[in-house]
Amino acid sequence: EKGGFEHFMLKEIHEQPDALRNAIRGRLDFNLGSSVLSGMGTSARDLAEISRVVMVGCGTSLHAGLVGEYAFEDLADVHAEVQQAAEFRYRNPLITRSDLVVAISQSGETADTLAAVREANQKGAFVMGLCNVVGSTIARETGRGVYLHAGPEISVASTKAFTCQVAVLLMMAVKLGRGRRFSRDEGIRLAREIESLPELVEKTVRQSDKIAGVAQRYAQNEHAFFIGRGYLYPVALEGALKLKEISYIHAEGYHAAELKHGPIALLEEGTPVVALAIDIAGKDKTLGNVEECRARGARILGVVTEGDEEAAAFMDDVIEVPRCHPLVATIPTAVALQLLSYHIARHRGCDIDQPRNLAKSVTVE
Ligand code: M6R
Repeated sequence: EKGGFEHFMLKEIHEQPDALRNAIRGRLDFNLGSSVLSGMGTSARDLAEISRVVMVGCGTSLHAGLVGEYAFEDLADVHAEVQQAAEFRYRNPLITRSDLVVAISQSGETADTLAAVREANQKGAFVMGLCNVVGSTIARETGRGVYLHAGPEISVASTKAFTCQVAVLLMMAVKLGRGRRFSRDEGIRLAREIESLPELVEKTVRQSDKIAGVAQRYAQNEHAFFIGRGYLYPVALEGALKLKEISYIHAEGYHAAELKHGPIALLEEGTPVVALAIDIAGKDKTLGNVEECRARGARILGVVTEGDEEAAAFMDDVIEVPRCHPLVATIPTAVALQLLSYHIARHRGCDIDQPRNLAKSVTVE
């Protein structure tokens, strides 16, 4: 049932090109430069009335929402925010009927996310689900939304659900954007980039053996930092979450600019810093932060754009991801980090598919 793979996690990482193909299939409209997401059940007029997108979720789904925040603001010109679902539920959020609340959940059963859906329904918001499991409670209670079609995810560590969540959020943002300032040409350009995601991820997954070699050099450390800026900030958080949950290494994800405000005090000779320095806005600043880490003796593993020798020169070790649209690049970058975590955990002999203390879906508060 693991299809020849040693663990479900590795199988699901390798399934991502197909999972993305399924998440994207039939949903891009190259004529209108938009996307077709019929489950949203919205007319262009409904979408035009949305003044804010509020995403709710937990864990990896929360991180996908953080990428979504950038996508909605940059592509759709609409104010967007993401809230941890439990926080949303208990803070008495300010919600109006022009808010679109998107509940992001692979399982569709996470207790806090479900409670957030009920709260948003109470407040009269326009509520949608972004779920993988068809017919799950959140999918049913939202009544509208978009399924990921990523296929069953067995491993506790979420991989293909995350990349498909981000892909669907990008398509939602394109759709919303087309009702606003986003032009047809821009829409078509982005739709083409989204369409190429399966290949981009395929290329990244093919580096699994090389990443395993890099991972070996980091498997004995007990602490690690992940840094990134802009679109890569949420990916840094996700990379750290993945590493800690399956390898039990204490990993922290930070905005690269935050390091100087405290965490840099923890760097010692050989402390690993995973720097997300692909060639998008903010790269130079991140490289500056890499220098600061190196000056404290940190060992730097850089994730850089294929062929970017300038960035590679700052790093002790390098993982490359293919060049593509900056928002789209979050996906292959996340895949590279999934493989890194997997191989580190494997070198450490961890129980990868069933990490201690964790359940696949958290149905209690
Ligand atoms: O099923 P959900 O997407 O609602 O689950 C949310 C989190 O429990 C989940 O993403 C968790 O953080 C994963 N173990 C991360 O790999």
